[in-house]
Amino acid sequence: MWLFIIVACLVQQTIDSKELTSKRHLNPQEFMTIIVSTECCYVCVCYSFHEMAMYDIPAAIDFILQKTQQDKLYYIGHSQGGGVGLIAFSVMPQLAKKIKLLMCFAPPYTLGSTKGPMKMLLSLPDGFKKSVWGNKEFRFFSNKLKAINANLCSHPVMDKFCLQLIFLCAGFNRGNLNVSRADMYLGTYPDFTSVKTIRHWSQVEYHKCFLCNTKCVTVCCSQKFECLVAISKEFKYFDYGRKNKVVYNMTKPPFYEIEKMTVPTAVWSGGNDIIAHSKDIEQLLPRITNLVFHKTIPSWHHADFIWGLDAPKRLYTDVLYLMEKYK
Ligand SMILES: *[C@@H]1O[C@H](CO)[C@@H](O)[C@H](O)[C@H]1NC(C)=O
Ligand SMILES: *[C@@H]1O[C@H](CO)[C@@H](O)[C@H](O)[C@H]1NC(C)=O
Repeated sequence: MWLFIIVACLVQQTIDSKELTSKRHLNPQEFMTIIVSTECCYVCVCYSFHEMAMYDIPAAIDFILQKTQQDKLYYIGHSQGGGVGLIAFSVMPQLAKKIKLLMCFAPPYTLGSTKGPMKMLLSLPDGFKKSVWGNKEFRFFSNKLKAINANLCSHPVMDKFCLQLIFLCAGFNRGNLNVSRADMYLGTYPDFTSVKTIRHWSQVEYHKCFLCNTKCVTVCCSQKFECLVAISKEFKYFDYGRKNKVVYNMTKPPFYEIEKMTVPTAVWSGGNDIIAHSKDIEQLLPRITNLVFHKTIPSWHHADFIWGLDAPKRLYTDVLYLMEKYK
């Protein structure tokens, strides 16, 4: 789906703007221009995780249900994939009816305890992000660089260094990744996203800083977490600044009303996860109306959910058990 949108966008970029206006009725261009056409849409990669929740998720779910001739499915999302599920099913109750069980592996919520390179990336000023990266696709590594990474990480000794890089970003858990797969890990991840997604997550974090010390935002953000943890409910729609009035008919963007979602939901967190910190996820749990299962796996970091050698034992058995229970 992502790939399709990006390809569509790249194709669109080659069409001049006059033609573009006349093509707006076509998908996916239509939803790309729906929000605020002046914000970014002439460059086209103007989605954040909000648009993924609103457009990609319903499209993917309906496609699967149509192909499989089923009424309902299980939704499993790792990281932002889980967060996107929370948004989609709280905003669209009709869509939520199609979900048997929502399973979120380490969903990012307020990012108040996020550390490491992700924290640094999110803390960059919004104006900086906008002027340096525009409203385009955001690439941590280009395809070329990923190919080089894969090559480097396939050499013994280097592979261990590559795993250290993952630990630096995701959290530390020695011995649970397959060293001989380091080339695959670094050759594939992190995937591309949009600058708007990064900006949206930064806003989630920024608001908290702003609230805890209105005098000086930057000072607050550099003080550790005491004040940040206290204010944890700024999981909001994208902030368009002065254009909020036009988009939302409000001066501030609305909150995501997670409480409205009644889908049975299971949540996992990792005790060593420095991206979606278990402390942040603890603050999310009371907002989930129909929480049927929660587990923190103490030694796990952010990538153990998908790559951890002990994931079949520590995670997937629970998943299979829950699937059986919520058939
Ligand atoms: C580690 O990865 C290699 C290469 O893909 C594979 O052959 C091996 O079975 C994996 N080991 C474990 C324990 O999964
Ligand atoms: C915008 O908000 C105001 C105040 O809440 C309300 O009276 C008005 O009907 C809203 N306009 C639209 C178009 O929803």
